[in-house]
Order: sequence, then C-alpha cells, then structure tokens
Amino acid sequence: MKFFIDTANLDQIKEAQDMGILDGVTTNPSLMAKEGITGTDNIMKHYVNICKIVDGDVSAEVISTDFDGMVREGEALAELHDQIVIKLPMIKDGVKACKYFSDRGIKTNVTLVFSPGQALLAAKAGATYVSPFIGRLDDISTDGLNLIAEIRHIYDNYAYETQILAASVRHTMHVIDCAKLGADVMTGPLSSITGLLKHPLTDIGLEKFLADYKKGN
Ligand code: G3P
Repeated sequence: MKFFIDTANLDQIKEAQDMGILDGVTTNPSLMAKEGITGTDNIMKHYVNICKIVDGDVSAEVISTDFDGMVREGEALAELHDQIVIKLPMIKDGVKACKYFSDRGIKTNVTLVFSPGQALLAAKAGATYVSPFIGRLDDISTDGLNLIAEIRHIYDNYAYETQILAASVRHTMHVIDCAKLGADVMTGPLSSITGLLKHPLTDIGLEKFLADYKKGN
C-alpha cells in the first residue's frame, strides 16, 4: 500500500519523506488555509515547493465547480510540475473534467467520495485515484471502512485500474484496516504514519539490548 501524507505543512512532509516511506502528498483548500497559504499565486508556489520535497504524486485541488473552470484550473496546475495530480470534486462536472484529463494522459484524483456508486463513476471516467473519505463517514456513525471494502469488490469485478486512495484517515488503525482491505493508497496525517512505529515491547527490548551491550564493553 502506498503512503501519502495529507497535509500542506512542509516540515511534516519533509519528516515523512526523510523516513523513506512516503509515496506522495494530498492537499485540499482547507489544509492550505490551515498553513496560512492563501491566494492563487501563493498556493501555486506552495504546490511546487511540495513537489520539490517528495518524489511521488502531489494532489492539487481545483476550486471551480463548472467544467470549463475545472479544465482551465487543472491545466494550469498540471503545467506546474509533472508530479501534480488534478483533484476534482465528485459532482457531474467533476466527472466530466476527470474524463477530459484522463483522455489527455493527465492524472486525476476524484475527491469527496462517500458511496460505491460515486466510486464507480470515477472509475468509468478513468480517474487515476478515487478518494473515499472514511473518517468523515465514521463521524456520522457510518462505517467508512465498509466503503473501502465495497469499492475494492466492485473494482476487482471489472479490473478497473483506478486506485483506491483511502482519505480522511485519522489514526493508525485506519491505516492497518485499509491495508487489510486492499486499499491501494492511504492518505493521513503524519501521526497516523509515525504512530505505526510504536510498540512498548520494541522500546523495552531495545533498552535491554543496549544495556547488555554496555555490560560487555
Ligand atoms: O484526505 C481528505 C482529508 O483531507 C479530509 O480529512 O480529517 O478533514 O476528514 P478530514
């Protein structure tokens, strides 16, 4: 499973990249605003800065909600760097724009997906990635992980190549469960990645190994 980090924070992106396990980055307008990155020019520059840190795909979201606007914005974003993936909302014009970009060999990520039917539409439009938001479904007492399982089942039935990018991942168990269910990618905060390191027996075992080494030296 690929690991993407879901943030626009450059320090956190660097930290994950330095671990050697990062496959890409996802962002959205809320994550940009959280880092104080506002205005089209600054946002565009920030995408380029992110691309300079990571080797993999970097999702950059359009804010237009009409086809022409999405195409205009998406083309400008794609020009920024060859790692940019155009992130489009799961609405009718977003599906149409996804087909437009996939026909032209430009990578896409269809976001704000909350049902298997939406994921089916994204695959039919040739999306590179589909982003089901599991945490936000959990927030409203609906099983987000079940959506991953349903999409996996449907995509496998027809060998769709669209990659399931489990989004709105909040913690380590989401990561592990997504891996069990066969999500192709997960995107989450840095804590959902570094949290995977933790086990008390690792710490106790290492402490003992180091203490025993010192005894003999
Ligand atoms: O990847 C989608 C993500 O940015 C949304 O996460 O935690 O705001 O639901 P969250």
